[in-house]
Amino acid sequence: MSIRHFLSLTDLSPQELEHVIHTAIMLKKAHHEGQINKQLEQKVLGMIFEKSSTRTRVSFEAGMTQLGGAALFLSSRDTQLGRGEPIEDSARVLSRMVDIIMIRTFGHDIVERFAQHSQVPVINALTDTYHPCQLLADIQAYVEHRGSPKGKKVAWIGDGNNMCHSYINAAALCDFQLSIACPKGFEPDAQLVEQHQGRISITHNPIEAVKGADWVATDVWASMGQEEEQKAREQQFADFQVNHALMAHANHNAVFMHCLPAHRGEEVSAELLEDKNISIVWDEAENRLHAQKALMLFLLGKL
Ligand code: CP
Ligand code: NVA
Repeated sequence: MSIRHFLSLTDLSPQELEHVIHTAIMLKKAHHEGQINKQLEQKVLGMIFEKSSTRTRVSFEAGMTQLGGAALFLSSRDTQLGRGEPIEDSARVLSRMVDIIMIRTFGHDIVERFAQHSQVPVINALTDTYHPCQLLADIQAYVEHRGSPKGKKVAWIGDGNNMCHSYINAAALCDFQLSIACPKGFEPDAQLVEQHQGRISITHNPIEAVKGADWVATDVWASMGQEEEQKAREQQFADFQVNHALMAHANHNAVFMHCLPAHRGEEVSAELLEDKNISIVWDEAENRLHAQKALMLFLLGKL
């Protein structure tokens, strides 16, 4: 059987994605009931981080422990990766020692090259281009709160970044319409947009994007690696805050999501983030744990 990687959401078929989400919901229930599940006993997850993380690191490590396995935190700061050992060599060596590997890094080509040389499944835990693990959690949260996203309208407000690109892939896999509102010059990747014409629309007017939406999502204005652009972006994105006034244009039962960490007063108002009737960000964050447990079971052939 060939190795399955998860470098972008499109590495799963729509049916596989549905199966992973369904499993995540089951695993969450079982975990809350205190059931023990040791399906990954003796398995080791290698976690390579070239960027900071709270949720991703903790959810992968806790998830692996809960399934009876172990996780290794490998920062590029104190491995040979940070001293120039080629990614291809690191992949060949690490994949002879561990059973599954996740990587958070900059260029998407790095996870692709790593996967090409790995003999175990590789998971993209965020690159500059995609953040597919977050979408598993977001889709799970929507299903739990509102049911299937099929045929719904989703609005993405803000930067055409890694999260936005993963929302584009999710639109195709889950069969929803995606309306993206971003400032001029911050559109998502043109090729990806081209591929999904008919399913996504791009505007520079957040009200237009949110009108009639069932699910509204945003993210920070400056992503990791863009810290020096933060000040300039605060000006460029000033009209793109998601708040109650903007949400008033969405459907009456629309939910708000944010992958976190959030910058209150920038891309989201503090009031909206804390509004339990609209914001489901804490469930969304918790779902990283359950969704990635389901993903690891899937990639290791346990589903
Ligand atoms: N949402 C997310 O990936 O969070 P971390 O950067 O804390 O992992
Ligand atoms: N777009 C953000 C997501 C963080 C989880 C970043 O890449 O920094």
